[in-house]
Amino acid sequence: MRNSILVFRNVYKTYTGEPILKGINLSLREGDFSAIVGPSGSGKSTLLHLAGGLELPTKGEIYLFGRRIDPLPEDERDEFRKGKVAYIFQFHYLLEDFTVEENLEIFGKLLGVSNLDKKINEILEILGLNHRRKYKPYYLSGGERQRVSIGRALLSGAKLILADEPTGNLDPLQAEEIFKLFAKLNSQGVTFLVVTHNKNLLKNFNRIYLLKGGVLSDYSPL
Ligand SMILES: Nc1ncnc2c1ncn2[C@@H]1O[C@H](COP(=O)(O)OP(=O)(O)O)[C@@H](O)[C@H]1O
Ligand SMILES: [Mg+2]
Repeated sequence: MRNSILVFRNVYKTYTGEPILKGINLSLREGDFSAIVGPSGSGKSTLLHLAGGLELPTKGEIYLFGRRIDPLPEDERDEFRKGKVAYIFQFHYLLEDFTVEENLEIFGKLLGVSNLDKKINEILEILGLNHRRKYKPYYLSGGERQRVSIGRALLSGAKLILADEPTGNLDPLQAEEIFKLFAKLNSQGVTFLVVTHNKNLLKNFNRIYLLKGGVLSDYSPL
């Protein structure tokens, strides 16, 4: 049996009296490549925030890498998440005054990554960004910028990537490139949970969930 990466057990989330998630059960195992679809406002981002321990459930249990995280104090949750879980958002926050390789270098130093230069070289290769290493973000396409943010996730050593509409502002070709990159990383052992509206790219996933009315169900794109 593959290792358990993320488990939601009967998870509820209520904001100011309004129930958003109503008894979510979810189980991700190592190597899973899963997507969540659902209408806007259905709680997809909320679910991802809970998954990484950025927010706490109103009720229920959340296990990350086999450890129950919801009863932990915030600093312990942060510490536990570090180097295991990374978020990719639709808009990414690159340091505009620094080049691609400097962006990775600064981030890596903050995290205290060892063998940093070697890892950055490897990651730029994986990302197909070697020819852009001396460029500042302004001169990159949206897809390239998103690849830099994926590079940061890789640098952190994350084994679980939680991506919230990562191709939401990219054209179809760039979106497809990002999904190809996810698939490649997945084949190298990174587990993915991706919120997406991109119906054309759902075929890439081995499991797709629909979040609607606060409830998670299996979704069939056909
Ligand atoms: N921090 C918050 N405080 C109050 N309400 C929130 C908060 N975060 C999200 N919500 C509400 O929860 C619902 C689900 O939001 P969200 O998870 O962002 O949905 P989705 O990502 O599916 O569009 C929305 O109605 C939103 O307004
Ligand atoms: Mg959202």
